[in-house]
This record gives sequence, structure tokens and C-alpha cells, in this order.
Amino acid sequence: RQQPLVLGIESSCDETGVGIVRGTTLLTNTVSSSMDEHARFGGVIPEIASRAHLDAFVPTLQESLHEAGVTLDEIDAIAVTSGPGLAGALMVGVCAAKALAVATGKPLYAINHLVAHVGVGLLDGRRALDGRPSADGKHDAGAAAGLGAGQLPENLGALLVSGGHTEILRIRSITDDVELLGSTIDDAAGEAYDKVARILGLGYPGGPAIDKLARQGNPKSIRFPRGLTQPKYMGTAGEKGPHRYDWSFSGLKTAVARCVEQFEARGEEVPVADIAAAFQEAVVDVVTSKAVLACKENGITDLLLGGGVAANSRLRELTGQRCTSAGIRLHVPPLDLCTDNGAMVAALGAQLIMAGIGPSGVEFAPDSSMP
Ligand code: KG4
Ligand code: ZN
Repeated sequence: RQQPLVLGIESSCDETGVGIVRGTTLLTNTVSSSMDEHARFGGVIPEIASRAHLDAFVPTLQESLHEAGVTLDEIDAIAVTSGPGLAGALMVGVCAAKALAVATGKPLYAINHLVAHVGVGLLDGRRALDGRPSADGKHDAGAAAGLGAGQLPENLGALLVSGGHTEILRIRSITDDVELLGSTIDDAAGEAYDKVARILGLGYPGGPAIDKLARQGNPKSIRFPRGLTQPKYMGTAGEKGPHRYDWSFSGLKTAVARCVEQFEARGEEVPVADIAAAFQEAVVDVVTSKAVLACKENGITDLLLGGGVAANSRLRELTGQRCTSAGIRLHVPPLDLCTDNGAMVAALGAQLIMAGIGPSGVEFAPDSSMP
């Protein structure tokens, strides 16, 4: 098929996503999130996420088909996130996808969630739906990822920053050559935002709250640690240290907790906005500096930004500045395609089909720690 009609299913974390693409054209991207149900716990509770997927799947599927104006019959193939992610959450999407595949006889593709975050960059610059905004108003008719339909830049990298991952990838071929250059060794950057927001009493999810509050604070008032930046981890360009492109955020979270405790012990008011700003600066500084370093040292000329933290105003600003100085072109998809969604899964599924790669069958198991 030249332009396969692919249905993509995503359930690796707290978003139930069903997206439909035709080749590199996005038809629809329907997402139902259980984030509100996790709010009072300050983080995603796997059991709640799994149950929410079970409730949300069929309505999300129906809405997606309806919005795209296609029937299940017309779909050429089904693609589903098979890892990495929460085991129970993945299981729901994978079981649903297998059930659909068996019932309809359609080929099924198992998709790596992280590679799918990059695959979304292959969607056309124009949205389908006749250029109309979608019914919920969330999908504008503007540019998608802007990488050019179906053709990735030759020296492409991806910086994925969300509540579940913090990674820098090099993509030589979206279908069979994706290399992990660096990643977090403990918490993901978004997770650090959520944990620090909890310490500061800002609620969940923490990212947007800290982003907003940080604008009223002084980022230079406190200097928080940048993890894994000491020479023993970085090494030199000639002799690379063991964590040159890796991140660590658990020390930063602890430093924020200590800082708050010290203000409280002295009976002083906690300068929440300053702490938020200084914390954000520490995260964004180390994320962008290591990402740009990895790009420069690996010949990456185009960088795709993905993940929920791509919404962060300071991250966008500093990545933009540092990429410009380094001569790297930065590509930022619209936010609903940066966060977890089914369209990215469908987009990568369509790429596999167009590359002539055969389906996965229905025997595979979800792999929560898929590399
Ligand atoms: O990609 P996503 O929707 O789900 C996964 O975690 O996979 O990302 C959610 C994460 C949360 O940790 C949230 O706090 C963070 O993205 N986030 C932000 C912002 N908006 C969302 N972090 C920093 N600044 C933001 N504006
Ligand atoms: Zn993700």
C-alpha cells in the first residue's frame, strides 16, 4: 500500500490514545487522560492508570473512528505501543489491539513508544480534517512537526523529556537504526518537576505549576546541583566519561527538599517562587547543555523535541538559544503531538509498512523495560 490507513493505540502511561493516519497524513488524534485521578497522589498510580485505560479504550476508539470518518473495516493495519511503559497499562492497549487484530484479520504492529515520539515528526506539515480545527479545538490546522512528510533529515537527533523519560537519541533510520546516546539514570525530568511541585505544595502535575510560578522568581537566587556534570562523569571529548550524555535528577530533588527544610527550620517564609525558578533553571540548563553537546559530538544537525516537558517555556527558550548558537535546527511539534498519543504510534506503524516491514503477529508480549 502506498498510503496505508493505520490505527495507532497508546496506553503506556496515563493517556489512552487512539490516532489514525493515512501514510504521513494525520487524520485524527484522540486522547483520554486519567491524570486527574492521579492528582491527589502526586503521581501516576499504575493500578488506577490500567483501570482507566480499560474504561476509556472503547469510547476513545469510537470517537477516533468517528472523527476521522472511517470505519474499522477500512483500516489497513493496527499499531500498538508494546513498551517501554507501565506493565499493566501497556497490557490493556496490547490486549485491545490483539483483540481488534484477531477479530478483523488486520495486521498488527508492535511499536516502541520512544521511537514513536520521533515518528510523529514524519507527519505532514499540514493537518488533515480539511484544515479545520478538530471538534475539541485542541488540534489547530497549522504545522505538524515540520520535518517534511516521510523524509527525515539525515543527521537527526531527538530529545525526549516527559514524566516517564529523558533521553537523547540519534536516528539514522526510523525503521531500524535508532541509537540511545544518553538518558536519565534515575528520575525523568518531568517526574522531578512533579516531585518538587509536591514538596512546594503546588499540586499535580507539577510541570505547568512550576513553569508559571518560576516567572515570578529569581533563578539565580539559589544554585541547585546539575547532576552528572563533574569531570569524572563527563570525561573529555577525546575520552568520554561514563555519563557524558546522561542525566540524574534525584540529587536535585533532595537538594530542593533540604533547602525548604532549612528555611522552615529558621522560621523563615519559604521563597517558593525563587526555589521554583532556581530548580527549573537547574533542570533546563543541564538537559539542554548535555543534549546540545551530544548533538555537536555526534554530527546531529536537526533536533526534534518531544515529551510533555516540551511544553515548558524555559526549556523551549534555552533549547532554541543553544541550538541556534550551535547551528542546530530545532523542530518542536505541536503540543498534543509531543505528549503521549496514538497518532505517533500510527505514524510509526505507517512508516514500517511503507518500508515493507512485515507485521509483528499477535504472539508478542508487552515489554515494560523495552530498550
Ligand atoms: O508526555 P507526558 O504527557 O506523559 C508522560 O510522562 O509520558 O508528560 C507529562 C509530564 C509531567 O511530568 C508534567 O509535569 C510535565 O510533563 N509537564 C511539564 C510542563 N507541562 C507538562 N513540565 C515542565 N513544564 C511544563 N510546562
Ligand atoms: Zn512518552
